[in-house]
Amino acid sequence: MKQLTPEQIQDNWIKLRELLNNTFSGERLEKLNQMYDYFEDRMCIAPASGKEHYHNAFVGGYVEHVLHVTDLAVKINKLWKENGASINYTDEELVFAAIHHDLGKVGDLENDYYVPNESDWHRKNQGLIYKHGEDLQFMTVTDRAIFLLNHFGVKYSEKEYIGLRLTDGLYEEANKSYYIGYQPSRSLKSNIAYVLHQADSMATHIEYDEWKHGEQKSRREVNKKVINIKKAVATEVETKLTSNDNAKDLFDELFGDTK
Ligand SMILES: [Fe+2]
Repeated sequence: MKQLTPEQIQDNWIKLRELLNNTFSGERLEKLNQMYDYFEDRMCIAPASGKEHYHNAFVGGYVEHVLHVTDLAVKINKLWKENGASINYTDEELVFAAIHHDLGKVGDLENDYYVPNESDWHRKNQGLIYKHGEDLQFMTVTDRAIFLLNHFGVKYSEKEYIGLRLTDGLYEEANKSYYIGYQPSRSLKSNIAYVLHQADSMATHIEYDEWKHGEQKSRREVNKKVINIKKAVATEVETKLTSNDNAKDLFDELFGDTK
């Protein structure tokens, strides 16, 4: 499973704070910094999901996912613009919505949304690395994002609200009435939600691929080690060598590199 080093976790946190400081200003930045200071200890280690086969279900996965989505949202937005789409929102609005679309995954003011699963069986057999904290009031991730922004007095525009509210696209049942409008007057008045949904979807799929390929790579490495060990054992038997050095080599081959 993919893991971030403490340095990578810290580096991502610094990148996120710099992004906030370089994008926002005035009272909004002040309130945002208060919110990020409040959540720092919990947010920088939060995962982006609870199941390893979803995406970024590891320490620091949340911040990495948010940075990933924001980067892709800016790139995808450029593609839309170059292809003639009407862009009636600012880069600041796009970035604000991208950064905060999953804010609810951090949890409420006291409790984490994802808590480590202590059941080894569920971790190994079902990939349930984290489970939902049991002390939190049930709320959708998006509702909690809105609640937290409101709690810290962070103001946002209508387009920012629509953007982060609809980032999950039609994966969220409650978004149906926004995306599927049978009357022209009820259709979305901005492309911000489509751009954000594409960015979130792309980031999520790439993060899944990284996990999948990482799993395949580590399986291949284990298989290679097993083959080497079988060969070494066969050679040893053949030559009837029983020296401690060879036994140590075998042990190192099996258990030496656990990173
Ligand atoms: Fe997301």
